[in-house]
Amino acid sequence: MNILILGSGGREHALAWKLAQSKKIDRIFIGPGNAGTSELGTNLKLNPENFPEVKDAVLGNRIDIVVVGPEAPLTMGIHDFFTNDLTLRDIPIIGPDKSAARLEGSKDFAKSFLIRNNIPTAAYKSFDKSTMNEASAFLSTLDPPYVIKADGLAAGKGVVIVDDIHDAENEVKAMLNGKFGHAGEKVVIEQFLKGIELSVFIITDGFTYKLLPEAKDYKKIGAGDTGLNTGGMGAVSPVPFADKIFMDKVKQRIIDPTMKGLSDEGIVYKGFIFFGLINVGGNPYVIEYNARLGDPESEVIIPRIKSDFFDLIEGVAMGDLQRRIIEIDERFVATVMMVSGGYPGTYEKGKTIQGLDLATGSVIFHSGTKKEGDKVVTSGGRVFAVSSWGSSMKGALGTSYRNAGLLDFEGKYYRSDIGFDL
Ligand code: AMP
Ligand code: GLY
Repeated sequence: MNILILGSGGREHALAWKLAQSKKIDRIFIGPGNAGTSELGTNLKLNPENFPEVKDAVLGNRIDIVVVGPEAPLTMGIHDFFTNDLTLRDIPIIGPDKSAARLEGSKDFAKSFLIRNNIPTAAYKSFDKSTMNEASAFLSTLDPPYVIKADGLAAGKGVVIVDDIHDAENEVKAMLNGKFGHAGEKVVIEQFLKGIELSVFIITDGFTYKLLPEAKDYKKIGAGDTGLNTGGMGAVSPVPFADKIFMDKVKQRIIDPTMKGLSDEGIVYKGFIFFGLINVGGNPYVIEYNARLGDPESEVIIPRIKSDFFDLIEGVAMGDLQRRIIEIDERFVATVMMVSGGYPGTYEKGKTIQGLDLATGSVIFHSGTKKEGDKVVTSGGRVFAVSSWGSSMKGALGTSYRNAGLLDFEGKYYRSDIGFDL
């Protein structure tokens, strides 16, 4: 069995690392991958958003299954591209079709899906240019702070939270007037929910699902959750407050009605669903859906899966996920993201990385790295996720921090307080 993983970050390295342990897999290809994935399989020079390039790679390397890491190819319709191509239609894609990927690609679609299916979420209203003048009236029915979201994908920048109603009105106008291009043609305004966030994941073949470990990620650049938003600075799993009572609520109030809603709407969802949740006084609410695994959440949840992960992937491909098993490691896994100096603003690339051979007791998942001759150099803002196991969260973090100290490149930065709020 040959498998192609699309993407180039820590999530894709974690997927490749886990799938490389499966006896059922012959060859792993990663497109385009990074320096870390090149140790586990063959990196292919391709752009996951260029479907003809993906097609050539799939046919040229006799790929049997494709796992899609990032959201862009999904919302652009890579699944549909495969279904509609005679030479590709029998090659399963792990990732939803374009219509189902709207759960992530359109916040307006996600919100109306949530409300139609009675799934707990913040009250909201959507506006476009023709209804722009009604936005102020809706804002005045809400208490501050005000949450304003561009409908479409806006590189993680499309959510703005402000305290002042006039700033909120101006933000709505700016988005509708093209601040985020097409992504802001519609704008969602919603009630602010106060609580602690967590990420819950399932894998589904469209009929049944398996719950994967949950995680908490740390999005802000600075200690104590301060400063600018990033792709994620670290994560831990399990999440202590996500106990059985809480997770039963998540299943009954959120996952089950999501599965039923998809099925009622004639959508056969094959892939991962990432529920971005917030715990408000012991009750889970959906902040957002994503049509993929999280990053850096993957770097803590995948190491907690003890059973063969390919078995689940195959279950999705064959539509028999129900008879597959998943075994979870009870231990904690923590990951600390090492980033380039200046990230998430401007930063330099091409810094030589040292100390990769010194780290012990952790797995180093590469994110923005590449090989230059026999050197490994930085090639992105997020460079490595240092993941470790431990019988406690503190123990796992201790190992990651020890190894983060041994890895070196000019300008390296990491948050030293991952898990501080748990
Ligand atoms: P999203 O891209 O929808 O996940 O939003 C980005 C971040 O904004 C979330 O991770 C939350 O921290 C915050 N956020 C979004 N919606 C809300 C809300 N209704 N109440 C409070 N915080 C929110
Ligand atoms: N860590 C959040 C995400 O992957 O979107």
